[in-house]
Amino acid sequence: MEQIQIIDSKKHVGETVTIGAWVANKRSSGKIAFLQLRDGTAFFQGVVVKSEVPEEVFQMAKNLSQETSILVTGEIREDSRSKFGYEIGITNIEVVSESHDYPITPKEHGTDFLMDHRHLWLRSSRQHAVMQIRNEIIRATYEFFNNNQFVKIDPPILTGSAPEGTTDLFETNYFDQKAYLSQSGQLYMEAAAMAFGKVFSFGPTFRAEKSKTRRHLIEFWMIEPEMAFTHQEESLEVQEQYVAFLVQSVLDNCEYALDVLERDKEVLKTYTKLPFPRITYDDAIELLKKNGFDDIEWGDDFGSPHETFIANSFEQPVFILNYPKAIKPFYMKPHPTREDVVICADMIAPEGYGEIIGGSERATDYDFLLEQIKNHGLDEKEYSWYLDLRKYGSVPHSGFGLGLERTVTWISGIDHVREAIPFPRLLNRIYP
Ligand code: 4AD
Ligand code: MG
Repeated sequence: MEQIQIIDSKKHVGETVTIGAWVANKRSSGKIAFLQLRDGTAFFQGVVVKSEVPEEVFQMAKNLSQETSILVTGEIREDSRSKFGYEIGITNIEVVSESHDYPITPKEHGTDFLMDHRHLWLRSSRQHAVMQIRNEIIRATYEFFNNNQFVKIDPPILTGSAPEGTTDLFETNYFDQKAYLSQSGQLYMEAAAMAFGKVFSFGPTFRAEKSKTRRHLIEFWMIEPEMAFTHQEESLEVQEQYVAFLVQSVLDNCEYALDVLERDKEVLKTYTKLPFPRITYDDAIELLKKNGFDDIEWGDDFGSPHETFIANSFEQPVFILNYPKAIKPFYMKPHPTREDVVICADMIAPEGYGEIIGGSERATDYDFLLEQIKNHGLDEKEYSWYLDLRKYGSVPHSGFGLGLERTVTWISGIDHVREAIPFPRLLNRIYP
């Protein structure tokens, strides 16, 4: 008997096959038992009819408890009533391992309880759908950058530098030296861009931020492209093409997951239309003030109500351009005619999901950068290698960082970034 995976059912209609699965749920009457089966690839229904199987098989089916692992044998048939479209008419069941008192039952559970059981919660159909969308975004990221001749370069995770400011660093001992967990690979990616032209990284980053919001993780994954001989305008085009490609890939390849999450696909389709709107920081402040936001002045960073209002003024993700120099990192290129702003942009996702990309053109002037490093209270010695990049054939270059989990949260249409990563690290949570 051929052993198959649920996802491949459509290739085996009319055949008798075996599937290794877990019992996600069960409902039965005197004559028929319906098993909700999952095998990691998908969920579908197994049907056991009392009059068509030996009595002990029917009794076994009726008594299976949630999350018992089994080998089921039966015929694959079409099932037009289910979203998945196929089911298995079970003729035999072999128990692999029993499961008793599974903590996550079909009833409602509180978030803390679910987070404490994240290792089991991952088995549920909604979590499964989110992780499939995450996987598709990862796959599409590699496809997009490979198609566009970017080289994947892996920056280190243990570093001595702090590109995004010194307040939220995780410090550790590196033998007899101090080291930090990387908060961004960017500075290394700038070195890589000078060696390979167009590069991207994709790795974990760490921020010891004391933020407890639905957008903040302590450990998150970031995609950081960096491009030599590239000004900010061209970088914005890459960013919007990349994000539109991610949305289109999820629409093309994750229809079932989007349905499980009840995500509106027509809304997602509008996010594939290019170009995305652009608004300057100055105009964004104006827009907010005109609409009754008295709590913000030129020079302030946006809070999430501000970002949400700005995003709601547009249909697609929106770029906010050229923020005040004082609220951005040291490496951004100064504006050619204005002292007070830098050449940068954040991409704000629609529907209140907030910033998904931060990026900029990078400063190329050695003396400017040296002064910035000092002004930001950074240790000049640690950045000597970075300054070398401006000594030996410096070129205009730009790059950006996209937060994977925020993007997954937005495209999936879920409420909180903690469900967009398998094992979230949050303020006060490192278990499981
Ligand atoms: O805006 P950020 O801090 O930019 C950088 O780190 C740049 N060095 C990137 C670059 O130009 N190469 O972070 C980039 C993105 C944010 O837009 C957001 O999507 C995500 O990373 N991000 C977080 N995601 C989850 N939890 C957090 N605490 C995050 N902090 C940033
Ligand atoms: Mg940012």
